[in-house]
Amino acid sequence: MRIGILTGGGDAPGLNGIIEAAGKTILNMGHELVGIEDGFEGVFDDRTKILTAESLKGLHQVAGTCLGTSNKCGTEGRESEFLEKYKKLNLDGIIVAGGDGTFRGLSEFKEEIKVIGVPKTIDNDLSGTEVTFGYDTACHVVADAVDALRATAHAHRRVIVVETMGRTAGWIALGGGLASYADAILIPERPFERKKLLQYINEKKKTQRGFLMVVAEGAHAVGESAEVAFKVEGAPQEERLGGISQRMAKWIELETGWDGRHVILGHLQRSHSPTTTDRFLTLAMGVTVGKMVKENAWGQAAVFKKGKVTQVPITELMGEPRLVEKDHRWVNMAQSLGIFI
Ligand code: F6P
Repeated sequence: MRIGILTGGGDAPGLNGIIEAAGKTILNMGHELVGIEDGFEGVFDDRTKILTAESLKGLHQVAGTCLGTSNKCGTEGRESEFLEKYKKLNLDGIIVAGGDGTFRGLSEFKEEIKVIGVPKTIDNDLSGTEVTFGYDTACHVVADAVDALRATAHAHRRVIVVETMGRTAGWIALGGGLASYADAILIPERPFERKKLLQYINEKKKTQRGFLMVVAEGAHAVGESAEVAFKVEGAPQEERLGGISQRMAKWIELETGWDGRHVILGHLQRSHSPTTTDRFLTLAMGVTVGKMVKENAWGQAAVFKKGKVTQVPITELMGEPRLVEKDHRWVNMAQSLGIFI
């Protein structure tokens, strides 16, 4: 068979691991492997490259995606053009690592295009899987930053607010904040009460030299909403959030007299070399994808459930985002440690 492989949406550590593991497994079965460049843009513009065993070597340790990706290009309004261009690629099916936007963009063509999916987002909020690759690496970046910034916060007697990605889901802030024992963690699912937060900070000021707070970009106070930083016109998801850390640092300084500084981690969370956990996950998912090709499991996705990689219909990845539940055990753990959440 002639199998295509495409990565769509924002990049995530581990995309290259999927390409290497799935690619090697597929090539070992004697199929031809065609890489589609820059997500859907590669289909529209006919940008592809043949992937060989040699070209796949060592990819697993590199962040990003050797195919390129895009979160600006959807298929909406261009459906017939997309299908026509896709047919010209002469593929028997495609492997797609992407988020809900990518799978929604393809769902129009479920009769015509055979797809095997792999859920991807550092935000860890896709439905149909218990974890997505890239998430562990993003948490590692956050924890590493908080641990490092603690030194400066304590040296200068400062509050440092660290902003993470996470539009509607607070998994990265929660995981990274817990792993680094931050003093406070603010996530979108738990709007915070300004008065209570100030009381908590003022109490800590009596005994601590520094204070570390991790804030997801989509976090907001009760009755307020997340702030939109800018828009990417025409993208499937136009709004980009950001800036809460700066506002919080200024506000805390004003209200408590404790010097405030902020750090926005931004795309560092996506561009770090994958952790061992993410490497194992993409290795297992990639090899499973190869097995799924052999079994003609088109329309299915390789996901992680109950401790192992398994298969579910791709439609399951397009459900409501998987958010941090009110009484999630990690929230309880944070509360047991005395972390403000
Ligand atoms: O991958 C999802 C995400 O990381 C969001 O948390 C974030 O808001 C967005 O991507 C940023 O995307 P861009 O690459 O367009 O800045």
